[in-house]
Amino acid sequence: MRAKAGDQVPLVAQNSDGGIKPGGRVQHYTGHMTVYVLVVALVSATGGMLFGFDIGIVGGVEAMASFQQQFFPDIYAKTTSGVSDDPYCKFHDTRLQLFSAIMFLSGAIIALPAGYAARVVGRKKTMTVSGCFFLLGAGLQAGANNLTQLIVGRSILGFGVGTAACVVPVYIAEVAPFASRGGLAYLFQVATTVGILAAQLVNYGTQYIPDWGWRLSLGLAAMPASILCLGGLVLPESPSYLIEKGQWSQGKAILQKLRGTDEVDAEYADICDAAQQAAKTSNLQSWKNLVSRQNLPMFVMSSSLAAFQQLTGINAIIFYAPVMFESLSGSSSALMNAVVIGATNVVSTFVGLLLVDRWGRRPLLIQGGLQMMASQIATAVLLALAYHPHTTTIATGPAVACLVLICLFVAGFAWSWGPIVWVLGAEIQTLDTRTSGMSAVVAANYLLSFVIGQSFLSMLCSMQWGTFVFFAGWNLVMTVWVYFLLPETMNIPIEDTAYACLFARHPVWSRVMGKSGRAVLEREGFRAAAWREARGSEGGDLRQLHKYYDQM
Ligand code: BGC
Repeated sequence: MRAKAGDQVPLVAQNSDGGIKPGGRVQHYTGHMTVYVLVVALVSATGGMLFGFDIGIVGGVEAMASFQQQFFPDIYAKTTSGVSDDPYCKFHDTRLQLFSAIMFLSGAIIALPAGYAARVVGRKKTMTVSGCFFLLGAGLQAGANNLTQLIVGRSILGFGVGTAACVVPVYIAEVAPFASRGGLAYLFQVATTVGILAAQLVNYGTQYIPDWGWRLSLGLAAMPASILCLGGLVLPESPSYLIEKGQWSQGKAILQKLRGTDEVDAEYADICDAAQQAAKTSNLQSWKNLVSRQNLPMFVMSSSLAAFQQLTGINAIIFYAPVMFESLSGSSSALMNAVVIGATNVVSTFVGLLLVDRWGRRPLLIQGGLQMMASQIATAVLLALAYHPHTTTIATGPAVACLVLICLFVAGFAWSWGPIVWVLGAEIQTLDTRTSGMSAVVAANYLLSFVIGQSFLSMLCSMQWGTFVFFAGWNLVMTVWVYFLLPETMNIPIEDTAYACLFARHPVWSRVMGKSGRAVLEREGFRAAAWREARGSEGGDLRQLHKYYDQM
């Protein structure tokens, strides 16, 4: 895209040594939350809700008799015959697992091209495409008459999920005012949990519709998908994207509209600086930079935490809680239990929102990891004691205790590993590695999600209660990993190399970063000095930046 006549190349103000001012010009930013930005937040919520809805809907649908009859007659026969079969194995079926998990495989595959598309054709168009994938996928699934159609529909949904996960958080970060950026990023996770709960409630209602209740469950995703599609058409393009493409005046006009004021020069100049830097970095270069010695620690930590998030075992529970409760306790309230789990997930996510910028990321990740580990070990012990091979189900008391333990597990996840992995993934990278870094995070998370979704019911069948010990082991590993390798990233401005600096001081990562780490520290020292000199004359909400630079 070329600059139009009349577009003015803005002055790019820099320090006398050519470096960008510490904290950019954030001290001069004006404009607060506007209705326009709230609409943007709604679109983000729609992307997250769709993601959650499609995760939460499968388990309940799989537990419905009409669905089993049509697509999995063997399972239907096992669940209704009353013939004693090992309850741990009632739902063990590779194709059933494929139906749950395939969405994450296609999501992981699309993550890389989606990040590229957002950069080349823009955030708006990419969002519309993602909404169209959702619509098509939901339609195919709701109208499915055979398993192939069902799985193709779910794969197309995965394209929508992967595209939305790459583009929506970037779009939000770019249009949100500085002070609300963190909160809006968290909103994506809140919306995901609300989507999961909505799906569980829908299943609870549609189970009473004989024959076609499952079609309604799967087809209802079309509603938020239409909002995402329309949102992509009517929302403003991101100012950063327009400015990077040389459409300066249009970018500035949108920024003014978003901020509700004409006084946006400081923020505009910062975006221009950033866009200039970004324009210098090709997509391939961005990937090369991601694995350079300076960025390797951030890449390793953000991607490993994203992968570990799935090894907590969360999606085994979110996908399969209904079928697990139905097979282990033979309970007709399996779908009600799923709703209780979903509600715990939403409420605990809000608890995390209150704590994440007070306690910090590290304590929450460690506490959450330990809580999940303890609940899983307790679940394993309970199942080992309560289930005897000669019985086909466990009694009501232990089944309720099992539900309580699973809720404790989900709560531990929801205020720690659930949101923090995404918040960290988006904030930890430097400007030129942000889109490639986020694609890597999404791909790592979705691949592991696919693996767990594809194998959990087989594990439950062969390892029985040992499955929970397996996940408890992983929770221990990831807690130790965070304890030794993750520096605290709370209250750090998303600016240039501030995060790299934390890793450059870390006893382990400083060795990996070598000379490049020492150079980062030297530069940050200069930035801190400049910041201290400049403070006092500035307005705006700078507490976070003051705190950070004062520690330097
Ligand atoms: C995870 C999802 C999970 C959800 C549960 C998200 O952070 O990425 O895989 O289903 O949390 O709330």
